[in-house]
Amino acid sequence: MRILAVCLGNICRSPIAEAVLRAQFAAASLPVEVDSAGTSAAHAGEDADERALRVLHSSGYSLQHRARQLQPELLSQRDLVLVMDHSNLRGVRAIAERSGINHDHVRLLREFDAAAIAAGELEVPDPWYGGAQGFTDVLQMIERAGVGLVQHLRRHAIDTAG
Ligand code: 4NP
Repeated sequence: MRILAVCLGNICRSPIAEAVLRAQFAAASLPVEVDSAGTSAAHAGEDADERALRVLHSSGYSLQHRARQLQPELLSQRDLVLVMDHSNLRGVRAIAERSGINHDHVRLLREFDAAAIAAGELEVPDPWYGGAQGFTDVLQMIERAGVGLVQHLRRHAIDTAG
């Protein structure tokens, strides 16, 4: 199974999701590959934002990263596409529709966090203009959604082979 995490710049949220989900799937012995992309090309080629790398490293995660823009064919090569907010959702759908590619497998990441659904808080907010706390919050939201995602994949016995 292959999962793609998507945000706007591919330097803050989706790289954090890539590192966290990859570690959670490995810990759960689920054979799921994770990578990431951004709907915008503005930061393509860059490393992850230093604030994102700092919060990852301080929580024990590692990541080698080079930001890239989402290309339509990537959508058809992934089983599940996890976006951070509604703006990302619109952006991914627009990219898919321009190329006639199905986007039924695109979901908000926090749909896998039951508490987030109950609270009506389905977005991982853009931390770009805030401080370090915003990045800590993002990491914790992603960790909680990842726990739910691992449970979901197990419960629904999704074919994770290959
Ligand atoms: P990301 O964060 O989408 O989580 O990677 C952002 C990165 C850059 C910008 C906005 C959000 N920007 O405006 O440049």
